[in-house]
Amino acid sequence: MQSIVIEGGKRLSGDVKISGAKNSALPILCASLLAPGEHVVSNVPELQDVITMGRLLENLGAGVQSSDGVFHIDTENLAKDEAPYELVKTMRASVLVLGPLVARLGSARVSLPGGCAIGARPINLHLAGLRDMGAEVEIEHGYVVAKAKRLKGARIYLDTPTVTGTENLMMAATLAEGRTVLENAACEPEVTDLAACLSSMGAKITGAGTDTVRIEGVSELRPMKYSVMPDRIETGTYLAAGAITGGDVRITGCEPAHSAALLTKLRECGFEIEKGPGWIRLKGCDRPRAVDIKTLPYPGFPTDMQAQFMALMCVADGLSVITETVFENRFMHIAELKRMGADIKVQGNAAVVQGAENIFGAPVMATDLRASASLVIAALAAKGSSEISRVYHLDRGYERMEEKLRGIGARIKRVG
Ligand code: EPU
Repeated sequence: MQSIVIEGGKRLSGDVKISGAKNSALPILCASLLAPGEHVVSNVPELQDVITMGRLLENLGAGVQSSDGVFHIDTENLAKDEAPYELVKTMRASVLVLGPLVARLGSARVSLPGGCAIGARPINLHLAGLRDMGAEVEIEHGYVVAKAKRLKGARIYLDTPTVTGTENLMMAATLAEGRTVLENAACEPEVTDLAACLSSMGAKITGAGTDTVRIEGVSELRPMKYSVMPDRIETGTYLAAGAITGGDVRITGCEPAHSAALLTKLRECGFEIEKGPGWIRLKGCDRPRAVDIKTLPYPGFPTDMQAQFMALMCVADGLSVITETVFENRFMHIAELKRMGADIKVQGNAAVVQGAENIFGAPVMATDLRASASLVIAALAAKGSSEISRVYHLDRGYERMEEKLRGIGARIKRVG
């Protein structure tokens, strides 16, 4: 199994170019199921999750070709309505085919994703919303089986502003009969990007990016030609990497407005932040001040940046309280950070981090995507060498991470 070896203590400086957003690309690829024909999606990051999504679409009968971040998807003839366990178990986002399949084919069989390292992650709200739209939804032998001759517009209140739930229901509603209103919808930029993509296909959507999304169903959509927005979590991860080394990094090809909560916190730590259209520059300080964060749905501090920010707080001056409110078990990185000398105590859904002057290289193990990123960040600042195993977690969500980090001076290599 491959691992990544990092020699810590090198100040990072230079430019890092951001890739297309994983969590935007995945729903957009699924949206191709809504309209028969040839779709072209560009700025798609080359990631394991994207490859899995391509396989899933092929398994449904779509023709999928990709090169240099451009996907050509032919959805003229779909052969099946099933997302099998083998694919869904490796990637929860597979559940995003549910809405489009029911809307286009009138039926879908999608394996229930099951739990994952960061929490139970139920999909009850996706299912309740489809039922509100008139679908018959049953759980049979571990599969969600959904049927509807034609979905009907409905007023749907989401108990929690679920991101993929909002996306699934928004896609389903585009072809429903009449108007759907999603209340307490997720406001994440990925939802807005998907809405823009669907609108380019002829969907009638207003309010995406707010907590009330209105969708006027249409009888058919046309194929898309769409470019995925930049990845705000990748942006934040490289900012944290630059920050922890006291470096001077410029992130290019990003959307600064999507990182507002993180930039506020980085400034509070004492980092100098400059930004302009498509770029953010972070200049390091001697030692960051410890600050508190609480993860929240967008525009709050993203749960997908909690682990990386915690790594930064491990070397900050003072005590930081990090509260995770989105997922119930997203502290798996703490045990590994502690092996590098970090001083962290967990109290319920809060982690109390006492910043240390130094942390030290160690062999550590990745448990999920963002936890792995936090270990990379910690290793960049640690004294000595760290070996991070189970790199496949990183490959699910970061395109060419070692190359990008090497480009700004990190001593990093892949072994095995
Ligand atoms: N929830 C329910 N019922 C549902 C759906 C969600 O109770 O039917 C709960 C979840 O258990 C969780 C909360 O609602 O406590 C929020 O979960 P959400 O559904 O918003 O998460 P998701 O859609 O499964 C997406 C991203 C995650 C990201 C979260 C939160 C994709 C493919 N995944 O997941 O990304 O952490 O939103 O922002 O978009 C990652 O990239 O590393 C990642 C995990």
